[in-house]
Amino acid sequence: MIAESLAGRDLISLLDFSPGEIRALLTLAAEVKANPGHFAKALEGKTLFLYFEKPSLRTRVTFEAGMTQLGGHAIYYSASDGKIGVRESVEDVARNLERWVDAAMCRTFSHELVADLARLSGIPVINGLTDRLHPCQALADFMTMQEVEEDLAGKRLAYVGDGNNVAHSLMEAGAKLGVHVTIVTPEGFAPSEEVVRACREAAGETGARIAVGTDLSLVEGADAVYTDVWASMGQESEAEERRRIFLPYQVNAALMRRAGPDAVFMHCLPAHRGDEVTDEVADSPQSVIFEQAENRLHAQKAVLLALIGAA
Ligand code: CP
Ligand code: NVA
Repeated sequence: MIAESLAGRDLISLLDFSPGEIRALLTLAAEVKANPGHFAKALEGKTLFLYFEKPSLRTRVTFEAGMTQLGGHAIYYSASDGKIGVRESVEDVARNLERWVDAAMCRTFSHELVADLARLSGIPVINGLTDRLHPCQALADFMTMQEVEEDLAGKRLAYVGDGNNVAHSLMEAGAKLGVHVTIVTPEGFAPSEEVVRACREAAGETGARIAVGTDLSLVEGADAVYTDVWASMGQESEAEERRRIFLPYQVNAALMRRAGPDAVFMHCLPAHRGDEVTDEVADSPQSVIFEQAENRLHAQKAVLLALIGAA
């Protein structure tokens, strides 16, 4: 039972969880995946509120389908229905939601908005992506890597591209799980120094090495090569300029060869094929991108079970 430690908690950053708690979530996710029928009524009568300021395929569908599969219900609410903090104060929204629903998932621009909702409401709040972090993605990613590698500790993940929200959460999860994470970016696009510092501190407990650099030779020997879009949601106006800067960092067959024949290719999706990754790599036998997408469903069902207190 992981409910004792996780029931009622928020999932804002993976640094808020102990290595044991994250491993327990991954174990529960594997159980949910292997035996979904066992959990079919676990969240009967429970409601999840979903708030989106940005587009989504995977996050929306996996949270909605996940609640259905657990016997509960999800309500989709977009910023066009009423932007939190604009139509009404964040505090008042938080104090309304906690009267009606059992948990909330939020995808926002501002990381502080999700953190504030978590602080101001009595229900679990789940970060479904902010400009700073994407913890649900990292949980699904390490679940996927664990299916390939079995023992995660000491494995090496090289992320190539923009030092963004996905890169930050991979570092946070890696630090907690003992996975060495190297972030390789063009000059000027390194991850947040504050996040790197916090991850290195957390890594002291597990022996993970968190490295940042610009040299593509850093992918050599990686067990997984990971990339993401060069312009994240909200950075569309920079897309053209970024394309020129990031092109040398494209994950193509030549770069995968530098990593080695056993390295898997990972991407959170959506992919801009032909930019950060070639079709050849995305559709190669080394690619686990659709396993990652599938595991969003199982990992988040585990998160819902644990935080709502039914696991
Ligand atoms: N990876 C991910 O979060 O996908 P969506 O933006 O489609 O939710
Ligand atoms: N870094 C991307 C991730 C999308 C899932 C973005 O924020 O748009």
